[in-house]
Amino acid sequence: MGYIMVKGGHPLHGELSVQGAKNSVLPILAATLLCNDTCRIRHCPHLRDVDSAGDILRYLGCDVRWDGDDLVVDTSGLSRWDIPEHMMRAMRSSVIFLGAILARCKQVKLSYPGGCELGPRPIDMHLCALRTLGATVDEKGGDLLCRADQLVGQDIVLAFPSVGATENAMLCACGAQGTTVITNAAREPEITDLQTFLVEMGAHVQGAGTSTITVTGGIPLHGCIHRCIGDRIVAATYLCAAAATGGNITLRGIDCRHLATVIDSLRQAGCTIRCTDNTIQLSAEKSLHSVPTVRTAPYPGFPTDAQAVLMAALSGAKGATVFVENIFENRYRHVPELIRMGASVRIEGRVAVVLGSSSLHGATVHCTDLRGGAALVIAALQTPGETHIFETEHIARGYEDIVRDLRTLGATIQMIEET
Ligand code: EPZ
Repeated sequence: MGYIMVKGGHPLHGELSVQGAKNSVLPILAATLLCNDTCRIRHCPHLRDVDSAGDILRYLGCDVRWDGDDLVVDTSGLSRWDIPEHMMRAMRSSVIFLGAILARCKQVKLSYPGGCELGPRPIDMHLCALRTLGATVDEKGGDLLCRADQLVGQDIVLAFPSVGATENAMLCACGAQGTTVITNAAREPEITDLQTFLVEMGAHVQGAGTSTITVTGGIPLHGCIHRCIGDRIVAATYLCAAAATGGNITLRGIDCRHLATVIDSLRQAGCTIRCTDNTIQLSAEKSLHSVPTVRTAPYPGFPTDAQAVLMAALSGAKGATVFVENIFENRYRHVPELIRMGASVRIEGRVAVVLGSSSLHGATVHCTDLRGGAALVIAALQTPGETHIFETEHIARGYEDIVRDLRTLGATIQMIEET
């Protein structure tokens, strides 16, 4: 495996179209199983995680093929209802297939999704929702087996607005006779995008974007054509990169309302940001300054996925910024690598204090996870030195081509393949 080489120290400039949202596409690919037909997903990002989801659909008997930037899925050949361990390990968010396979096949078997770099990633709320709709859940030997002779719509109350649990509940409820009301549902834009897709398939789903989602299930669904929303975390990443380098960029194909808290933090750091209905333009001063405490929270709060990239941008700012990571147990794994680059960060449990420093320098660093890897790229773009970033496969899970995109914005960055 090679590494990404960055020579930083100069501002980013230019325009870029933002890729489709990974966290929309993954539940939407699971939702295709709810019909015995063909769906075309437009503006689908070419990502490792999308490839993993496509491999699962093919294993289940579906036909999955690219047509340019469209992913075309024909589920009429569905012949299995299990997901093997190696596929679950390739992408732990494959748990999102649980509700859809159960709704279509009335049984589903998958190996228990393990934790990941961010922590144990339990699925208790997912399973509680499926049981409420009438499923039995047996866990033995690392496998999860769910069965439901009859799924019946019920009231589901989530203990926490979990994105994945909300999505599994929505998908399973589409296969349940009667009405399901999901209370304390997640409100992320990707949930709304999933609802749009389900309605385009003929489902009766409403309320996404609020804490209460209502599904009237048992309706036969059909294929559809759907264009995914822009990826708000990828957009946040490139805004932070431009902010960190004193640059001036315009992003196209993104709804600024989807990252309002990130935009607010960047404005407080000294950036000028202008929005139209589908573009965001940012210009930044030579150096940023610290911002009030950043607390991650469920949408519309500050997104946990943008914590690392904002931290990287503020590592070179004037003053200290406090971060509180409230969503995942272990989401500061990028910090030791930032420190190797001269950042000054102190961690105490869920709290990280970033003491802005002008002594960032090039180094050899290793990606620890998807967004932590993107954060290292942002830190490298700020320093005049040369940085080598290894284990970049983490980044490829969520960014179509971060090197291509940043080169479009004028960065001196390239992928070095080691022979
Ligand atoms: C989704 O993960 C995203 N992944 C994550 O993005 C994102 O960070 C997260 O939502 C929060 O916004 C996809 O959409 C594919 P949760 P998900 O269920 O659904 C706990 C990225 O970088 N929890 O909202 O797994 C859980 O451990 C990824 O693109 C339970 O305890 O997140 C976590 O602490 C990383 N029991 C918290 O809730 C459950 O049954 C939030 O998790 C479910 C979750």
